[in-house]
Amino acid sequence: MRSFTPLVLSLLGAAATVSATEANSAESNVLSLTQDTFNDFVKEHDLVLAEFYAPWCGHCKALAPKYEEAATELKSKNIPLVKVDCTAEEELCRSFGVDGYPTLKVFRGPESHKPYGGSRQTDSIISYMTKQSMPAVSTVNEENLEEFKTPDKIVIVGYIASDDKASNKSFTSFAESQRDNFLFGASNDAALAKAEGVKQPSIVLYKDFDEKKAVYDGKLDDASILAWTTTASTPLVGELGPETYSKYMAAGIPLAYIFAETAEEREKFADDFRPIAEKHRGEINFVTLDAKLFGAHAGNLNLEPEKFPAFAIQETSKNAKYPYDQSKKIDAKEIGKFVKDVLDGKTEPSIKSEPIPETQEGPVTVVVGKNYQEVVIDNEKDVLLEFYAPWCGHCKSLAPKYEELAALYANVPEKVVVAKIDATANDVPDSITGFPTIKLFPAGKKDEPVDYEGSRTVEDLVTFIKENGKYKVDGLAETASDAEEAEDVTSSASAETPSSSEKVHDEL
Ligand SMILES: *[C@@H]1O[C@H](CO)[C@@H](O)[C@H](O)[C@H]1NC(C)=O
Repeated sequence: MRSFTPLVLSLLGAAATVSATEANSAESNVLSLTQDTFNDFVKEHDLVLAEFYAPWCGHCKALAPKYEEAATELKSKNIPLVKVDCTAEEELCRSFGVDGYPTLKVFRGPESHKPYGGSRQTDSIISYMTKQSMPAVSTVNEENLEEFKTPDKIVIVGYIASDDKASNKSFTSFAESQRDNFLFGASNDAALAKAEGVKQPSIVLYKDFDEKKAVYDGKLDDASILAWTTTASTPLVGELGPETYSKYMAAGIPLAYIFAETAEEREKFADDFRPIAEKHRGEINFVTLDAKLFGAHAGNLNLEPEKFPAFAIQETSKNAKYPYDQSKKIDAKEIGKFVKDVLDGKTEPSIKSEPIPETQEGPVTVVVGKNYQEVVIDNEKDVLLEFYAPWCGHCKSLAPKYEELAALYANVPEKVVVAKIDATANDVPDSITGFPTIKLFPAGKKDEPVDYEGSRTVEDLVTFIKENGKYKVDGLAETASDAEEAEDVTSSASAETPSSSEKVHDEL
């Protein structure tokens, strides 16, 4: 699946209505700051969350009530939430590198700020900022252990002997690196470790789901602890939504989707499939998905639309999709087999593709999902490939120039191919973030395609092929005909962002 960043949508969502903002209504717990007040305020408060916004920005308006609610809750913890109107405070916003709205940043004094790393939901803001306000590792003892476990779905406690400096150091450094994501505690009380049924040193992850508690007593290096934590903290059958989507996409293991329209159905499937998920824990993640809200996502997995319940597996790292036959009933036994076959590499991925063209009509070679490997990868040619979308205006204005470019190489088809693919109608292995995207796959180095970032003129594209292709072919020298026409100064290299047709990516 092509992945589009949420920023893209925040630009699209920019409706031009300026509502009478609730700017500094006396009730608000969100303080509005300006160039004159900002620095002093963050100097006086150890920890501040700041929102940089524009009054016309739709996503900012959507965030406002949640931000307000979080501010009210966090007030009692002495963590102020503030906001800055970037249409009035341009310079201040620029000085913090704000380039989209809303931008949320965590300040520890005016010099130290970093991006807010949670999602834009009330609970997430509260949980994230609470973690920020605590030491990376809190001291846990018999009296406070139960209380310590309550504030978050997941807490992690290290049980380490007081003289075990090495383990203490490893655990503390891990906790510091993950403080944005988890709440950490540590105890050197041998009796407490015993009461929890673990030996020292051990790490225990307490969770309010599945088996409630997972114990780690393996090697105490960052990578090993992180790998264990990632697996132990992921529910056997989770829920896919805007808050969890990027985490699952980044998990590095395949994702199994269960689409169902009602909460009861989803719960039932989750119960049925939990044993399968447990069997393959760490190899594949399972999620349910509200088909009423996110049913359109089925299309991205090459499932037929509107036929629910449905099941599919996606190998996120390769963008390979394995839709489960929608004419079959979804039951745990069959799904168990299906999952195993996919993991064992016994199932071919489904490839969305237009039909392979019988003949190539114009000078530009048409690539589709089914001949991608053959035309682009499995050959000894320099292949320039444009990924386009039918709705993209920049792609349309490029089209005649691209044809002209392709014609220049008509005499050297064994060396240079100029090709295009409709990336909305065909699966492509690459992650495309805007249209058009142009890449050169040089002969002999197909696994290292070169992104084209120049202006969209025939001349510059010719130079690009000459400089980056294996054969160094100069297209203009090849034909020497009407090279003057290649002049074009108006093209800009900015890529267009996807519109509503791709909206599902952003909703998730
Ligand atoms: C780990 O070391 C720190 C610093 O020396 C100490 O304050 C803390 O109590 C130790 N933790 C445990 C669990 O022993």
